[in-house]
Amino acid sequence: MGSVNPVTRPDGGATPPNRNRQRRWAIEFPYGWSADDQVSRRELLRLAVFASGALFAATGFLAGLGYARDRTRQKEQPIAATSAVPPGGVHYFDYIDDQQAILLHLDTGQFVAYSGKCTHLSCAVYWHGESGELRCPCHDGVFDPRTGNVVAGPPTRPLEKIALRQEGDMLIAVAQMPS
Ligand code: FES
Repeated sequence: MGSVNPVTRPDGGATPPNRNRQRRWAIEFPYGWSADDQVSRRELLRLAVFASGALFAATGFLAGLGYARDRTRQKEQPIAATSAVPPGGVHYFDYIDDQQAILLHLDTGQFVAYSGKCTHLSCAVYWHGESGELRCPCHDGVFDPRTGNVVAGPPTRPLEKIALRQEGDMLIAVAQMPS
């Protein structure tokens, strides 16, 4: 068994090996016994911040879900007879809150309806038969008649869709969905 060399201090003295190991440990974890409770508090604070952030995110997510559901407004209202709107034709009507809405009979034979309120700054949107587009004259916003999606201009959201039901020859609006 070999002998252990003591560590030489700058002042020429010798430090026993165990004391030296203890000092290295103290450098890597520079908290004495008196600061031990501060470390615990720091960890507790970190956990509290993390838990608060998670709670905040979950609350925001649930509020967003509720907001989207609340914004779907239901109202049953007869609009027009299918025979009164030929393919390529349009019919304007007032729907929830007396807002202008648009019923289109697409060339595909399908009927679609949208809120007539532009999603940019709420100007009235009109059917432009020559181009086959829904247009907002205020800032040249253009929407796709098949989907209500934005084709051009400043709007960033599609038109709000109005769900339809057909009873015999009659088209009935049933709900307006948020975009
Ligand atoms: S309000 Fe419709 S494009 Fe601006």
